[in-house]
Amino acid sequence: MQVPDVASMRLLPVVLLLLCSCTRFCRPHYRKENEKKSELPPASDLLDTKCLAERHTHRSCDKVFCQPWQKCIGGTCLCKLPYQCPKNGTRVCATNGKSFLTYCQLKSFQCLQPDSKFLNSGECTGQEKFDVSLHHEGPDSVGLLRVKLTVLEESMYVCKDGWGMTQANVACLDLGNPLGALDTPDVARPDINIDECLHVSCRGTETSLTECTFTRRAGVQELAGVVCYNDSEAPPAEKAFQCVNGKRIPRGKACDGVNDCGDQSDELCCTRCQGASFHCSSGVCIPQQYRCNGERDCITGDDEANCGGAERPVTSEPNLLPLDMDTERKRIKSLLPTMSCGVKQHMHSRRKRVVGGSQAHVGDFPWQVAIKYGDGISCGGIYIGGCWVVTAAHCVRASRVRQYIIFSSLIDWIKPNTELHFRLVNKVIIHENYNGSTYQNDIALLQLKMPSLKECEMPGSVPACLPWSPYLFQPNHKCIVSGWGREKGNLRVFSLKWGEVHLINNCSQFYPGRYFEKEMLCAGTDDGSIDACKGDSGGPLVCQDVNNVTYLWGIVSWGENCGKPEFPGVYTKVSNYFDWIGRHVGRSLITQYNL
Ligand SMILES: *[C@@H]1O[C@H](CO)[C@@H](O)[C@H](O)[C@H]1NC(C)=O
Ligand SMILES: *[C@@H]1O[C@H](CO)[C@@H](O)[C@H](O)[C@H]1NC(C)=O
Ligand SMILES: *[C@@H]1O[C@H](CO)[C@@H](O)[C@H](O)[C@H]1NC(C)=O
Ligand SMILES: *[C@@H]1O[C@H](CO)[C@@H](O)[C@H](O)[C@H]1NC(C)=O
Ligand SMILES: *[C@@H]1O[C@H](CO)[C@@H](O)[C@H](O)[C@H]1NC(C)=O
Repeated sequence: MQVPDVASMRLLPVVLLLLCSCTRFCRPHYRKENEKKSELPPASDLLDTKCLAERHTHRSCDKVFCQPWQKCIGGTCLCKLPYQCPKNGTRVCATNGKSFLTYCQLKSFQCLQPDSKFLNSGECTGQEKFDVSLHHEGPDSVGLLRVKLTVLEESMYVCKDGWGMTQANVACLDLGNPLGALDTPDVARPDINIDECLHVSCRGTETSLTECTFTRRAGVQELAGVVCYNDSEAPPAEKAFQCVNGKRIPRGKACDGVNDCGDQSDELCCTRCQGASFHCSSGVCIPQQYRCNGERDCITGDDEANCGGAERPVTSEPNLLPLDMDTERKRIKSLLPTMSCGVKQHMHSRRKRVVGGSQAHVGDFPWQVAIKYGDGISCGGIYIGGCWVVTAAHCVRASRVRQYIIFSSLIDWIKPNTELHFRLVNKVIIHENYNGSTYQNDIALLQLKMPSLKECEMPGSVPACLPWSPYLFQPNHKCIVSGWGREKGNLRVFSLKWGEVHLINNCSQFYPGRYFEKEMLCAGTDDGSIDACKGDSGGPLVCQDVNNVTYLWGIVSWGENCGKPEFPGVYTKVSNYFDWIGRHVGRSLITQYNL
């Protein structure tokens, strides 16, 4: 122990006390601790193995939102180009000595060139120094973390309070370890007087600790220890959860809301969550403190639903650094273009319960359109915004483009209502892999002819939102099918009917060899009383999320013997065609959250 100088004399009794209670601070035995952790029950009952096989990570936009400097293409978050960032923001300096107009521009540049990390906000001066190091008392790999922030003269130890794998993973990245941290063990306090430490808080997606939020903590505190990942010290495969990035973590740490893997792969395929974490219905565990924090973290939005006005915009202590990058990240998000869909202009009172299909009223299904061919309504369709309608491929033929008439706000085609509008069709786009004998890829787009170039809208119509992920709705979710199709007994129907059905998990049992899970979904009722039937084809199966926003989840495609429970209706799975639709209609028309 060093001889305390005069200034730190007042700390002496405390330091002695710490030394006396050494049992709590003794040398790390994290090997032993790993053994202890692996005694936890195996987490296999928490994990969805089919989902795990899809190898989701923090870059899977089927499971999580992309960062604002990324865009979701084919289910993966890819780098935006810097010019695709919002212009508003303040200058930041990168470790390559270059300054960027905004944080978003730097992050999208870094996404392409990983070596240029964020250094600090403001211009580069060439003088700033940021450094992360480990202070070792002994020869082993456990160290106390020290950080030199650009705004401080000296480096400081990091406090144990608030320290965890989320922060440790980011610190180990700074220390040059791409797989992040192995553990955050208790470490003996060094024999020096420290009466202040840095409290650090990260989201876990940062690529450098200097993007995290720092505050000073006064008084004698326990300090943060870290062991960076080393394959030979990681738990053996049979006791480990295997992360997608190759890291092995103790099995009991999956589905606890903490991103131990660093690529989040331990939190994305969970049937439920353990510890202080929240289960998104998309199967993702997020930290409990993200619930009702004013930011939508679950793609399904359930973390921000039923907050009862209790959203608590995080009132954190002021950051030591001049610009809080987490706040900046949220601001960039708020500047991204948004689109409106799936919200009815005026809510109608709930109608009587559905038995065999209820009568619809004007405004109930503002995305529903009717396709007229010949002397009747041949199929339904769905307005998705701009000049575009989606329908089933088996409903239309390119050669008949001039013979279709699309009606919106139509209820009864024998006694037409005054609100209805119609459009002619400019172009029919049938999915290139549509197979008329198997009904695979049963989806088509109709581009409507507009009376004038400016007017690419359908009066009275509201576009249905398009789902970008197959995880937005789960089996048993109640959804609504609507159309002018035939009733049981092949009775002709002249007015728009709707009914409630629930999503069914796997229809292979009903249609062996004919049901393709990636491209199709099915829905029905237990007694078969509600079903889509002949003439409903091409029409919508819509589902509402927790905020009552309506998504086009399925397109009526096929089924056998309408209204028999052993033959549920089969629908085209729209989420599988998000990119295909985006390619034809333009992504900005259909992308709700991140272009
Ligand atoms: C940037 O955003 C701030 C805060 O939202 C706003 O006050 C300012 O006017 C914006 N500047 C530009 C150039 O848009
Ligand atoms: C990993 O741990 C082993 C055994 O403890 C050690 O020999 C090796 O040097 C470590 N590797 C790294 C990269 O630290
Ligand atoms: C449709 O699928 C069947 C069965 O797989 C196949 O034999 C046929 O060639 C396919 N037709 C087209 C047009 O792809
Ligand atoms: C769906 O059910 C079929 C037959 O019951 C089965 O072979 C198949 O593995 C199931 N698929 C999934 C993804 O559960
Ligand atoms: C959604 O709609 C239901 C029924 O109309 C209503 O009770 C509920 O409050 C709505 N929820 C939200 C978040 O608007």
